[in-house]
Amino acid sequence: MTLSRRDFVATSSSLAAGLAISPSVAFPRASTTGGAAAPPVVIASANGIRGVKVAYDQIVRGEDTLDAIIAGVNIQELDPEDQSVGLGGLPNADGVVQLDASCMHGPTRRAGSVACLEDIATPSLVAKAIMDYTDHIMLVGSDARKFALAMGFKTQNLLTEKSRQDWLRWKSKLNANDAWLDHDDPVRIKFTTGTINMNAVNAAGDLSSVTTTSGMSWKVPGRVGDSPIIGAGQYCDNTIGAAGSTGRGEANIKVCGAFLAVEQMRLGKTPEQALLHVVERVIAMTEKRLLSDRGRPLFDLDFYAVRKDGTFAGVSCYEGSQFAVCDAAGPRLVTSAYLYRRSERPTR
Ligand code: GLY
Repeated sequence: MTLSRRDFVATSSSLAAGLAISPSVAFPRASTTGGAAAPPVVIASANGIRGVKVAYDQIVRGEDTLDAIIAGVNIQELDPEDQSVGLGGLPNADGVVQLDASCMHGPTRRAGSVACLEDIATPSLVAKAIMDYTDHIMLVGSDARKFALAMGFKTQNLLTEKSRQDWLRWKSKLNANDAWLDHDDPVRIKFTTGTINMNAVNAAGDLSSVTTTSGMSWKVPGRVGDSPIIGAGQYCDNTIGAAGSTGRGEANIKVCGAFLAVEQMRLGKTPEQALLHVVERVIAMTEKRLLSDRGRPLFDLDFYAVRKDGTFAGVSCYEGSQFAVCDAAGPRLVTSAYLYRRSERPTR
């Protein structure tokens, strides 16, 4: 039987008190040990399985790591079927799609970010344009849209019919006594904080990271999640590695998760050890209303990290997550390490 980290810590606390324990003994080992492969390596949240291959091929051809991973996430941003990113993303409470994204370019130590962007499907490219063409790092809202138009981006209606129908379902179920009639059909209302994060290292050891999202579905208009926060949604230090996250942004922002992961790798931890540390910090910083009686989180949060040497990992709160990888062995989904077993997940 494999022990979860929690099980291990619980049964070994006296031992742990005096010894440095190798986490590789305790943690559920996904095939993250496969991350010993030499760079180039591209990793992403599981929805980036098509994108990691596109990015990897570009990197092998000698293209810049940030250009390559942005091309990778553009696939999801432009896919109307992906309801967590860009075109087709689930809207806010007013039925408006508001997008967040950020990126970092390791070799030049630059960053760009955009939040609450409307009508433009590729916020990752807008974040990069802010990085490339301004002295600033972050633009938001209608002025970010104005900037993007000036840079030549085209507007379009991002609310697909499918996402509009989901929004109507959510709205109709909000309050039995309001002026909206129930929209009774068997289709489940989606609640999502889906996002795509992608990180890459090339053969020269140069790194980049990008995260893009439509944020939490039905959010309060103007809400900004972790994705555009440099150091939370993604972070990259060309001397160490890159990291990013998907899932409940509010939980991540409070621990600056991507920055914390890179700093843990700086201290010598493997990507998996670093990310497990981050998830433990997330839980420690979570308010009671978002924890079960047993202290288990009522939300999902996933982290991804790649080190300069090509070692990589994905870590989730709960067993069952996967992440996407592409290296010389080709694109594949890899099982993430986790803090808690699936059976410990509270039902709400
Ligand atoms: N992680 C995406 C969000 O919370 O907006």
